[in-house]
Amino acid sequence: MKLPSRVKIVDVGPRDGLQNEKGHVPAEVKIGLVHRLQDAGVKEIEVTSFVSPKWVPQMADAAEVMAGIQRRPDVRYSVLTPNMKGFEGALASGADEIVVFGAASEAFSQRNINCSISESIERFAPVVEAARARGITVRGAISCSVGCPYEGEIAPERVELVARLMKQIGVQHVGVADTIGVGTPRKVQRALEAALRHYELDAVSGHYHDTYGQALANTLASLEMGVWQYDTSVAGLGGCPYAKGATGNVATEDVVYLLHGLGIETGIDLDKLVDAGAFISDFLQRKPNSRAATAILNKRAG
Ligand code: HMG
Ligand code: MG
Repeated sequence: MKLPSRVKIVDVGPRDGLQNEKGHVPAEVKIGLVHRLQDAGVKEIEVTSFVSPKWVPQMADAAEVMAGIQRRPDVRYSVLTPNMKGFEGALASGADEIVVFGAASEAFSQRNINCSISESIERFAPVVEAARARGITVRGAISCSVGCPYEGEIAPERVELVARLMKQIGVQHVGVADTIGVGTPRKVQRALEAALRHYELDAVSGHYHDTYGQALANTLASLEMGVWQYDTSVAGLGGCPYAKGATGNVATEDVVYLLHGLGIETGIDLDKLVDAGAFISDFLQRKPNSRAATAILNKRAG
């Protein structure tokens, strides 16, 4: 299959990245990161989560962060919402898109959102309905689409089931997530195929963590299937507090370098993106977890 000519990147660094930091990241730093991402041409930013602050204290400032962003009309700002309480926060914050997050693994669903897969769908249904009634688009994340930290390997049929349930309640788009970064290209393709049984190609994205260094290979394998939307994280930030040992999402810088090298448009200025990654990495007092960013920063240092 011909590779897509254009790819949509959703930078999930401010959310997936910073939800997993041990140290406190002030709202103003999160806002500064969002501003730098949009300056770099990122058009979709997953900003924060309206979740329980007892479960994920890192996202307790969700409303403050959303309120502090100087919005651009051509950028869409999404947030995670596990239930109606989260949706109310998202609505008040003016989010353009919400994300309900389920899992292909029962054990992960319990640990992450404290309910079974079928209970999660029941909880999401009114959220999806309320969002769509207000013109807010709804994405669904399917965590542990390839493997689970508690259950091990996950069969594609489990992904298909969650995609079917999400479709039934009106979720408009699904993200196939390799939460713990154990996937390899063929396994990721099988998981995508499972989601594609219920969703059009234009309504499926890939969300790959890079724990085993496979995320770029998995991205290329997904591109070969025509999948053209990806969640990535600037400076390779990320992880999930309920998936111990999993590292960050594939770095946006690395994916953009790959895509531009393939002649695929992203609308993103890689140099400015590296600046955004350097900004947050400096704050966190570490180097960006991105080979492309490291190479570009080394070249600049001459
Ligand atoms: P629960 O304890 O079962 O909830 O948690 P509850 O409804 O029984 O409520 C308990 C308390 O939480 C109450 O407060 C509620 O008001 C409050 P209290 O009366 O005790 O003071 N509460 C909330 N507060 C703020 N915002 C809310 C909210 N809901 C309830 N939305 C719950 C269930 C879903 C809330 C909890 O498990 C939770 O917040 N989980 C979030 C976990 C999370 O954010 N994980 C990381 C994101 S998922 C991810 O990273 C994967 C992804 O990247 C894709 C991939 O890689 O796989 C998306
Ligand atoms: Mg994730």
